[in-house]
Amino acid sequence: MSFSFSKEAVEELKSQIDIVDVIGRAVQLKRAGANYKGLCPFHNEKTPSFVVSQQKQIFTCFGGCGASGDVVSFVKRYYNLDFNEAVEKLANEYGITIKKNNYSDDREKYYEINREAARFFYKSMTENKNAGYTYMQRRGIADSTIKKFGLGYADESWDSLYNYFKNKGTDEKILVELGLLSEKGGKYYDKFRNRVMFPIMNTSGKVIGFGGRALDNEAMPKYLNSPENRVFQKKNNLYALNITRQDIGKEGMAIIVEGYMDAISLYQGGVKNVAASLGTALTENQAKLVNRYTKNVVLSYDADAAGQKAALRGIDVLKNENCKVKVLHVTDGKDPDEYIKKNGKEAFLELITASMPYTDYKLQAYKKNLNLDTEEGKLDYMKRIAPILSELSPVEADLYIKKIAKDVGIAEGAIKMEILGNNNEIGEKNKFQPREEKKENDYDISQMEVTIIKCLLTEPQLIEDVLSEEEIFESVLGKKAINILFELYGLKGDFHISQLTDRLDPEESQTLLETLENVIVSGNTEEIFNQCIDRYRINKLKERENRLLTLLSLADEENSTESARELTIELMEVQKEIKAHGGKDNVNRKN
Ligand code: CTP
Ligand code: MN
Repeated sequence: MSFSFSKEAVEELKSQIDIVDVIGRAVQLKRAGANYKGLCPFHNEKTPSFVVSQQKQIFTCFGGCGASGDVVSFVKRYYNLDFNEAVEKLANEYGITIKKNNYSDDREKYYEINREAARFFYKSMTENKNAGYTYMQRRGIADSTIKKFGLGYADESWDSLYNYFKNKGTDEKILVELGLLSEKGGKYYDKFRNRVMFPIMNTSGKVIGFGGRALDNEAMPKYLNSPENRVFQKKNNLYALNITRQDIGKEGMAIIVEGYMDAISLYQGGVKNVAASLGTALTENQAKLVNRYTKNVVLSYDADAAGQKAALRGIDVLKNENCKVKVLHVTDGKDPDEYIKKNGKEAFLELITASMPYTDYKLQAYKKNLNLDTEEGKLDYMKRIAPILSELSPVEADLYIKKIAKDVGIAEGAIKMEILGNNNEIGEKNKFQPREEKKENDYDISQMEVTIIKCLLTEPQLIEDVLSEEEIFESVLGKKAINILFELYGLKGDFHISQLTDRLDPEESQTLLETLENVIVSGNTEEIFNQCIDRYRINKLKERENRLLTLLSLADEENSTESARELTIELMEVQKEIKAHGGKDNVNRKN
């Protein structure tokens, strides 16, 4: 089966391996100053000029053959392996597990089988009278909702789905891996029986797994979910987001709930900007996912202790992704599903309005199990909340201190003292700058890419200048967008934004439209465009300059005058070019 390793996985592997150790197994190395030295294994030489830098984790041959690279490129070349084989060899030798990504073409088959199963369950739910349909009716779920969410029914027999797939000749192994069938003593049988089926889809609309709820409240487990497999990782998905992301974008806010039924009931009740984290603890990847559509998140977990604890954890996970978090507390019924069915849309919207900023929520939650009428209780409370307050800006902290002082009956000064004693100064680190924005991930389109696309949309002919600088577009989305624009321009010498978004997946076009909106191009389009191209060229040259500086420092350490001279010449050329583009060189940069 074909596979690849992610960049992160390879970096992680490299961080755990020492290049000196790896090369030392193949080449006799001797310490030379800060580095190691030996005879170059890639060409014939009598005096050692092959240098391995432990600090930089690279090797370089100064003997004329020019070989250089990191630990993976060494293993590749020395043992004559391709990249994947080299990474696997290293991982095996050092006993490190490294995750493989299977290629998507392989995954398509799995998605398709899941989709067929979803269709099968949906037919059982909708074509004849059945216990699943009765159950959903009893829970107040409308036919249109069943259709919208593709809800299905797995009947009581042990072989309905099995026979269906057997007729189609589908590989049983895959069905077992997907958790649709189980196997015992060489016999296969249906895993989901007498359950209402919730197909789980990713944001591209692929069916990645299922949740099946028992009809009978005594049956265990209440919810049976697909096992983790190559297409389903619970922690990377939010249920219903494929249906609701447009609504989330439109509302500029996402409500995150715990369960399938919470999401479905809110949606049916007219509160459509909702998604479910499926279980209790919100994960980092789920936070990243929702962050693509909005920064405003309202956590609406169950009213029980578990739900409230999960909300506290969820706050931290979401704050880490720079989300603005509020917490909604259902005041009637155990969860949002019950609440909206009993009280209706307007009442739920009022709860949203009344939802607490996360600081208030934490301050309130931390009162639990304390007796604030006693001095001891007050002191314990101050200890608990000091870390929360010290994260706030001075203005915010001041507001909250006043509030708490009044609420709990402690002097403002005492709270301030507690914060100072427990932590550093109030909000010291946030005094002048806003909270640090997190770096966007690899997949996300860069500011520069978006700016250029925005310029091109007003001045299409500028695209001719992009032809020679195609590598500016590094993100998946950026590459795809610019290629579509090239194509359109080639065909008609012109293009319009709608022609671009029509050709992108809905999710991609949404992301692009959002980012385009956030970039302001004011003034002369051509000038701004040229500035972008220049900045890109300068960045590229600076990367080259840094590499040369590294090599040069290595050559210096090795007294390799010949290479040092060549490198210096090249460096001067690069620096000249940087100046010509209006940039500054890096001569004063400490390497
Ligand atoms: N869950 C699960 N497995 C379980 C129990 C719960 O995966 N055995 C997940 C499901 O995604 C479920 C969510 O946790 O939707 C919330 O669980 P819970 O509050 O117990 O269920 P409800 O949503 O209230 O389910 P229902 O309304 O159908 O009783
Ligand atoms: Mn519920």
